[in-house]
Amino acid sequence: MAAPGIDLTGQHAFITGASSGLGAHFAKVLSSAGATVGLAARRADKLAEVAATLDGPAHVIEMDVTAPDSIAAGLDAYLHSAGQLPDILINNAGIADPAGFLQADREKTQAVFATNQMAVMDVTQDLCRRWVANGQGGNVIHISSITGLRAVGGAAAYAASKAAVAHLTKIQALELARHQIRVNAIAPGYFATEINEDFLETDAGQALIKRIPMRRCGTRDDLNGALLLLASGMSAYMTGTVIPVDGGHLCSSL
Ligand SMILES: NC(=O)c1ccc[n+]([C@@H]2O[C@H](COP(=O)([O-])OP(=O)(O)OC[C@H]3O[C@@H](n4cnc5c(N)ncnc54)[C@H](OP(=O)(O)O)[C@@H]3O)[C@@H](O)[C@H]2O)c1
Repeated sequence: MAAPGIDLTGQHAFITGASSGLGAHFAKVLSSAGATVGLAARRADKLAEVAATLDGPAHVIEMDVTAPDSIAAGLDAYLHSAGQLPDILINNAGIADPAGFLQADREKTQAVFATNQMAVMDVTQDLCRRWVANGQGGNVIHISSITGLRAVGGAAAYAASKAAVAHLTKIQALELARHQIRVNAIAPGYFATEINEDFLETDAGQALIKRIPMRRCGTRDDLNGALLLLASGMSAYMTGTVIPVDGGHLCSSL
């Protein structure tokens, strides 16, 4: 599964939202490339199932990314269990609210911003402060979305939260480069997971797939190249970039 020549042996990667979907896949890819992985999410039973599928070392960390105390406790737990801080942070945890702007419910909107945007600030800030205090560098990869790069109907809060992540990538890259911390993002197009599989089966979802230039959703393996590039030294001079992986969706015709 891992790309030939990409060896992450000795690296520790901490992945939020690793209990399902893309996060569980990222754990498998990084583990196959030799990394020790930290699997973080709220459902510890699901994390244990993911860990059981991996050949390499994995540490299960029950964590709610919307609660700063839980983030700090989760990073403490990783340090205790793995004996060191993670070298790579994948900010992947996210939720969606399939509501248009006029219909959006305030509580659901706040939950989307708390999980997709504020948590990316909080998790990154906590770990980066530890890296800086230790005098060590680090590598942060955010999972944004093409909905944060181009207007889309029916997902107002989600798309705005992902746009914030894309911009935060550049701000953090600017401020953290002096500390040898790189920050980049992947902006996936549409990949069938728990977050969207119901929608993708509807007529509207099928119509959306027809508008993707490649006429299909992505497979999880389609994300491996961008993930391994950003996680490895192959991207040593890259920071502040947002890489779309979308079958050409951002280039679809107006
Ligand atoms: N699928 C796509 O087409 C697509 C496209 C673009 C971007 N993305 C992004 O990719 C990321 C992963 O999504 P997915 O498609 O893999 O969906 P998913 O299967 O629903 O996974 C979402 C993950 O986030 C975790 N999570 C949610 N709230 C959390 C919280 N408060 N604390 C800790 N973990 C939390 C969930 O774990 P628990 O419930 O166990 O906590 C779960 O592991 C998201 O950021 C999403 O926006 C997905």
